Amino acid sequence: MSNKTILVTGGAGYIVSHTSVALIEAGYDVVIADDLSNSSAGAVDGVRRITGTDVPFERVDCNDRAALRELFERYRFDGAIHFAAFKAVGESVDEPLKYYDNNVGSFLSLLETMRLFGVRNVVFSSSATVYGQPDVLPATEASPRKPANSPYGATKQICEDILRDAVAAYNSAGGPEEEGLRGIALRYFNPIGAHPSALIGELPRGVPNNLIPYITQTAAGIRAELSVFGDDYHTPDGTALRDYIDINDLALAHVTAIGRMLNDRQRQNYEVFNIGTGVPVSVLELVHGFERANGVKVPYKIVARRPGDAEAVWADTTLAATELGWRATRTLEQTLRSSWRWEQQLKK
Ligand code: UFG
Repeated sequence: MSNKTILVTGGAGYIVSHTSVALIEAGYDVVIADDLSNSSAGAVDGVRRITGTDVPFERVDCNDRAALRELFERYRFDGAIHFAAFKAVGESVDEPLKYYDNNVGSFLSLLETMRLFGVRNVVFSSSATVYGQPDVLPATEASPRKPANSPYGATKQICEDILRDAVAAYNSAGGPEEEGLRGIALRYFNPIGAHPSALIGELPRGVPNNLIPYITQTAAGIRAELSVFGDDYHTPDGTALRDYIDINDLALAHVTAIGRMLNDRQRQNYEVFNIGTGVPVSVLELVHGFERANGVKVPYKIVARRPGDAEAVWADTTLAATELGWRATRTLEQTLRSSWRWEQQLKK
């Protein structure tokens, strides 16, 4: 029997490159499609080197329906994992139309093209951002979604709703079962770390917005010091709490999710899972953990809170464990070492 073929969109990015590796190692054929607007072909080379395969890379803008159709004519896909999206929260506030057009538009054209070609299974990369500041922690999949505090966050909510509605409509009573759409939205908490080979990792452009790339660049001397945004939160050490999930564990969640659909193991045709560790870690714990894991110093200063930041967000991972059969396995120390290895090889 031939391997199942999975389309991954936005394939030259951080999460996607690790997911592509995990899919290939699990025996899938992968086709990577990306317009390279916000990523580099270097990530695809890394995937090829790690897996020893010549994984096809197709330069396609998912918003371009004709190009997407042409792609589906050339390959017979069994499923798709949709990552293609802009993800800078601040930029989305300044350029909302760009974000709605790209993030929502590309998902709509993917779903329409899948319908056209009878491709049924899709994983959507969502985010814990849909919870905002949860009233009760840890956040479960049933926790209410809060009004988004950025257009970026809104696009994640809208795309989840589009998927839910499309799955409901295309599986309605009387419709042919084999034509129905099935979907899983994975709500990522804070993905960090890099592949153990250090051949792929996170490659922020310009000054990093996220904590780990800022820490690694500070440890490497590229930045003078880290600004810790706020130490007056209602948390044990006053700094904000997050759920940092290893990128390789996160990648495996996608393999499990697509396999669940392909093997008809879903309980409902649309499902949502939190993908995190279930363990809250403060900004200062992460900084000091990084220093200990790698034997380096990370100079920092405490500054004002960053507008729009939540105080504490972490996952209830029970559903992913019991239903999906997935849980995080890497220790934070392992993950923080991989981040540093990746940063160090960037200099070479
Ligand atoms: N932080 C600092 N200094 C920095 C960068 C971050 O103290 O230089 C703090 C933040 O204030 C926050 C924590 O580190 O408390 C984590 O910040 P990140 O930017 O790494 O991650 P966020 O939790 O803010 O962002 C995540 C995802 C985004 C998503 C966002 C929505 O990475 O993609 O949640 O809230 F949009």
